Amino acid sequence: MNRRRFLAAGLASLGSACAPAGVRTAAASPDVALADVRRLMVERSDPIAGRCRYLADLGGRQVAQPILVARRGERFNALIENRLPQPTTVHFHGLTLPEAQDGAGFAPIAPGAARRVQFEVRNRSGLYWFHPHAHGFTAEQVQAGLAGLLVVKDEDDAALDAALDLAQHNRLALAIADVRVAAGEIRPYAPDAHDCLHGWLGNRALVNGRLDAAWDVAPGWVRLQILNACNARGLLLAFRDGEAPVPFHLLGTDGGLLAAPQALERVFLYGGERVDVAIHTGTRQTLAAVSLEFDPRHHAHGEAAHHRHAARASYAPLAAATICADAQGGMAADALPDGGALPLFSLRVAGSAARPAPSLPERLSQLPDGATAQSVTRRVRLDFEPHSGFVIDGMAYRMDEPGWPVSRDGREVWEIKNSPISMPHAMHLHGFAFRVLRRQGTFGPARALATAFGGRLPTDLGVKDTVVVWPNETLWLAVDFTLPRDPAFGGPQRFMFHCHNLEHEDGMMMRNLTVA
Ligand code: C2O
Ligand code: CU
Ligand code: CU
Repeated sequence: MNRRRFLAAGLASLGSACAPAGVRTAAASPDVALADVRRLMVERSDPIAGRCRYLADLGGRQVAQPILVARRGERFNALIENRLPQPTTVHFHGLTLPEAQDGAGFAPIAPGAARRVQFEVRNRSGLYWFHPHAHGFTAEQVQAGLAGLLVVKDEDDAALDAALDLAQHNRLALAIADVRVAAGEIRPYAPDAHDCLHGWLGNRALVNGRLDAAWDVAPGWVRLQILNACNARGLLLAFRDGEAPVPFHLLGTDGGLLAAPQALERVFLYGGERVDVAIHTGTRQTLAAVSLEFDPRHHAHGEAAHHRHAARASYAPLAAATICADAQGGMAADALPDGGALPLFSLRVAGSAARPAPSLPERLSQLPDGATAQSVTRRVRLDFEPHSGFVIDGMAYRMDEPGWPVSRDGREVWEIKNSPISMPHAMHLHGFAFRVLRRQGTFGPARALATAFGGRLPTDLGVKDTVVVWPNETLWLAVDFTLPRDPAFGGPQRFMFHCHNLEHEDGMMMRNLTVA
């Protein structure tokens, strides 16, 4: 234990009396060591509005909506209990897991049933998350509040915290979701045809389950690991002090730290994506995180028939009273359009700076080898079809398809092209991280941010598992399909590739792949 860590541990054990003046414990969601979880219960906490929560049983203590924390190499071994009136799964988004533990929805857990899930955390430090993934029920259950955070730590992560000289409460893991609030109440999930085609949108931000969320931090560096857990809304994240923009630094993306920090003023964060950012409080007393207004370039219109999973007919919705908005009139009156300006959360700076803040480290981490196949091995087309909605390669998803055949330990280049008659799609691959090689045909608000080599955005420089493809854009990704040499990964392994707009996912914008 170095001196700084020793001091921090000492302060923590003395309790809040010794914390810097005015700084309270930051998060409502308590940290829980992943390895301590004995049972993870998925339950409905409010049947009227249909709100749901995770409850972690640590053997003697239960914690609602925990933030799970693991060191790389630690194991998860828990019984997952489904207390919902619908099938569910727990998918660990971003983790390298065998099919049997991935929770991808091939084998949902029936209402009232339980399943033991155990695995090793093999991924780099970063913010990962877990959420339901039973086909046809994903959007409703995530919207109901089932999005949990998993913070993975390793040596790079600890070195960064030490270099930033982070104060005790200046590191936060945050999940941003949007909800529809009317008359002070969160409305139940009741999508109409427009919501199903474009994705369901709320009108207020819920951060770690709270409206108007605010955290107290001490002066100096603040490190925020942020997830977009919205069903469909893209965020253009920025920070402000009053009206003045406050620049920040991108430290990492979905799969961990970048090689070097990137100075930014705004960053796109689509559904399922994560960013790790550092912001310096300077002498400011408050900092507001906002999603800036932007043109999301929705170019697909119409009322495509929504594909409904057959299983939906057998189970009631989570909310007792679903208020179905009028299906003809376009977007529901109480939804904020995609790209609308949205306040997210704020930071209150309390106390005085004890010491001068260090400068950011120049190197953060060594990225995994991006070496790749020499030529394109897979072409993927995202299209809009007026009668079936958004599709991959012209086909609606079929759960029983083997999908694309991929060679185990192979390296592929994927060329993903989005149609000009489309909208942004946040495409997510299970089980494997990838690197963005190049973008072409980027128009609209993302173009101005494409400052890196190959027409890439700063977030493209990191390890990714979810990436937004704008209308008319083509992306080239390098995917390393190496699987761990572990009996748990023996035999053919089925994964999936899908849009993380959850109405698109439930609407069949998904494909399987089988790695053998
Ligand atoms: Cu975060 Cu297949 O999902
Ligand atoms: Cu996933
Ligand atoms: Cu989509």
